[in-house]
Amino acid sequence: MSSSVSVANDNGVAVVTIDNPPVNALSFHVRKPLYEALTGLRDDPAARAIVIACAGRTFVAGADITEFGKPVQQPELRAIIALLETVPKPTVAAIHGTALGGGLELALGCHFRVAEKSARLGQPEVKLGLLPGGGGTVRLPRLVGPAKALAMIVSGTPISAGEAKAASLVDAVVDSDLLAEAIRFAREMADRGGPFVPVRERNERLVETDLAAFDAQAAELAKKARGLEAPLACTEAVRNAITLPFDAALAAERQLFQKLVSGDQSRAQRHLFFAEREAAKVPGKDLQKRRITRVGIIGAGTMGGGIAMALANGGLPVTLLETSEEALQRGLATIGKNYAVSVSRGSLTEEARQQRLGLFKGGTDYADLADCDLIIEAVFEDMAVKKDVFGKLDTIARPGAILATNTSYLDVNEIAASTSRPQDVLGMHFFSPANVMKLLEIVRAEKTAPEVLATVADLARRIGKVAVVVGVCHGFVGNRMLSARGAENEALLLEGATPAQVDKAFTDFGWPMGPFQMGDLAGLDIGWRNRKARGQTAVIADTLCEQGHFGQKTGSGWYRYEAGSREPVADPDVEALIRAKAAELGIARREIGADDIIERTLYPLVNEGAKILEEGIAARASDIDVVWVNGYGFPIGKGGPMFWAGLEGAGRIVERLEYWRVRTGRPIFEPAPALRRFAETGAWEGAGVR
Ligand code: COA
Repeated sequence: MSSSVSVANDNGVAVVTIDNPPVNALSFHVRKPLYEALTGLRDDPAARAIVIACAGRTFVAGADITEFGKPVQQPELRAIIALLETVPKPTVAAIHGTALGGGLELALGCHFRVAEKSARLGQPEVKLGLLPGGGGTVRLPRLVGPAKALAMIVSGTPISAGEAKAASLVDAVVDSDLLAEAIRFAREMADRGGPFVPVRERNERLVETDLAAFDAQAAELAKKARGLEAPLACTEAVRNAITLPFDAALAAERQLFQKLVSGDQSRAQRHLFFAEREAAKVPGKDLQKRRITRVGIIGAGTMGGGIAMALANGGLPVTLLETSEEALQRGLATIGKNYAVSVSRGSLTEEARQQRLGLFKGGTDYADLADCDLIIEAVFEDMAVKKDVFGKLDTIARPGAILATNTSYLDVNEIAASTSRPQDVLGMHFFSPANVMKLLEIVRAEKTAPEVLATVADLARRIGKVAVVVGVCHGFVGNRMLSARGAENEALLLEGATPAQVDKAFTDFGWPMGPFQMGDLAGLDIGWRNRKARGQTAVIADTLCEQGHFGQKTGSGWYRYEAGSREPVADPDVEALIRAKAAELGIARREIGADDIIERTLYPLVNEGAKILEEGIAARASDIDVVWVNGYGFPIGKGGPMFWAGLEGAGRIVERLEYWRVRTGRPIFEPAPALRRFAETGAWEGAGVR
């Protein structure tokens, strides 16, 4: 007996309860007493059956992630499962909450699984750059079949208890009284008598497998892996389960696991797991939150509509405000269409669509927002317009309502100052499409009250966003660093690269697309308008825009697009334009390698991140990583720019920045003091101002 594992006897059924808050992870201090308890019960005549259950909010949600990468303390989970499989009496896992990773593997070590209706079961290890290392890749296919197991293990997405029952992963689903039902089930099995066959010996699903179909499924999945090792290793391990004897497949799984767990990609993904949870810890999180029962959105365009959907998806009633009935109806129609597409794709039920549409209310008068607890403005990105909106809000919003701006760049302090209640004002910077993109930058202005910040952070979680609190500066964390990343783009072209070469260096790095392809997708006119507003120029991009080449929407931009196609095709006219501009400016063109491209785009990105830390705009380096992975497609296998800087070597980054500064004379390459310190100490120091 220990505080983490206890044993009770319910009329001949032993109940082993794991109690390791918050998620019953299988830490060493759980494994040891669990192993000892099971050893004792195996030979205990007073126990005719064994139920493994958990206290608290969930069944075991996995191995203890903090132990990965450290020396393993015995007994390992694999030993516990091996022991379970030698138990001659029925063993039953009683599952509530989430049985994830090592938790599901532990349950697979039992003869039977009984789950509460709301439970979810999955192998999410791939999201940590790993594969299930406790036999999941060899046992799960034996129950659900290799195709289903592969889908579950490579996606990492958990399935519901109902789906698990249909797939033979669980033996019974119960509405309530899980423990009593599991005990009843165990007793019934004991009464019925053995032999009880452990999962390792259940080979029927494997024998009937069509290996060619499996390989075709695996090849499809491999296409989506984009440089990540874990999905491929998962595939290999599940295939081994079909082609190798059980113990050989188990040994191969272990080898693959060891390789992944000691690699940089898994380290990076584990870093991101904790980084996201760390980012959620905002100052004032224990304060009494403000009530949010209805949200107002000003502007029903792409951004406002997307934000409204994000909120309705989280179950919140929304009032959409537009300047005219016509614009309002247009916005509502787009929302209706988007939901209809989700239904036709099968990602939303008709019932859920109806329920969500029922959450929307429209209005054209600011007074319609008087009953809202939070009002988010998503109007044109212009300071005068925003101030006007906030001035109006100040007169109609109820006292204590939170007023948020969705600005991507503007000074939130200035916006707050246009109201008489700056303590209630903050930025909520959503990313487009707002109903899809996970990231939310919560911009804390100088006077934002702590409980306002905490309330919005809570709300973000409620609607499934990954929120990061940032300070006020032009572009906040994400867009400010994006500008630094793009500062050299045109210079690279003028000096000899083509848009396709730059984009390829990016996709080879692991980005979903390069900056020029991205520009064409977003529309080149947006940047052009911004530059004009700020008195800036970009010789090539400006010329393209002057000629009406705005990207995909006009069929040409940095690339050419065939009618109806999104496939970029190199455009000789653009290349001629680049050559002509280079000649005009007297720039001699040369071969530009992928290394140069990375150094001149991603090193300034990291450098800007260092400045952001120095200024306290972000509280921690890991917050910046969370922004870049969730909002801009930074490859997860590299952990975000600040984590990647460590992999790349901060000393090297400083050295190469200095080299480029001397060579180009441009201040963007001046290494930030925080980057130099990182190079010396190996740790980012956040200013921690929040
Ligand atoms: N090992 C160690 N710590 C873990 C953990 C694990 N497997 N799973 C969660 N935690 C910690 C979190 O870091 C967090 O700690 P904090 O409060 O100090 O920040 C705390 O448990 C609560 O987790 P959180 O994710 O905030 O709770 P939730 O209720 O939103 O979600 C889970 C619960 C279980 C769904 C989620 O934590 C999860 O997905 N965990 C990882 C599951 C996994 O990958 N298992 C396989 C590991 S091989």
